[in-house]
Amino acid sequence: MIPVGVLVSGRGSNLSALLDAARAPECPYFIACVISDQPAALALETAKKAGIPAFFHEKLPQMKKREYERELVTRLREFGVQVVALAGFMRILGETFLAEYPNRVLNIHPSLLPAFPGLHAQDQAFRAQARYAGCTVHLVDAGMDTGPILDQACLRVDRSWNAQQLAQHILELEHRLYPAALARFCRNEFRLEDGRVHEFSIPAWLE
Ligand code: GAR
Repeated sequence: MIPVGVLVSGRGSNLSALLDAARAPECPYFIACVISDQPAALALETAKKAGIPAFFHEKLPQMKKREYERELVTRLREFGVQVVALAGFMRILGETFLAEYPNRVLNIHPSLLPAFPGLHAQDQAFRAQARYAGCTVHLVDAGMDTGPILDQACLRVDRSWNAQQLAQHILELEHRLYPAALARFCRNEFRLEDGRVHEFSIPAWLE
């Protein structure tokens, strides 16, 4: 069983999906702790209700990014975290953090990367009148939504949807994709060679 630490900033619906999946006996990971950079994140309540250690970790204005990241790593290490899952964590991690978890940090992003990185990806897709939209699970590097792609899920956009409906449909896909991709990652079904991802199985959720 791989101990996973989840970093969050807000609502926590992806955290809930990861927690739900972790209840299955065959799931190869468990959520060891949850850290939020926002005190009022709903995700903290969700974690606490599930009996998972959950913390607000503040980035004080005078704190350097590397100091903050060192503190995050220290906390994650206390819980034996081996893999980190970002679930709506709205900070760009730097080398201090990533050097501690090289190719061990996953993120979910609500677009078919490399299209629409950054904030409000669903709105970007809506405004661009994209015919296909979706979500991506990728390894995190020091860029913004740029690391090697592990898996994606897509949907055809119905022209009758408004921006909120599109975002909701993407979110439902996220809740299926992220737990499945994280489980496959924890089972070593992905291998990274020269920056390219190789995979050893068909995602169960596609079968
Ligand atoms: C999700 O849509 C996630 O893909 C997105 O934030 C939302 C968090 O929702 N992440 C990013 O945009 C990262 N670039 P949640 O808190 O309900 O999981």
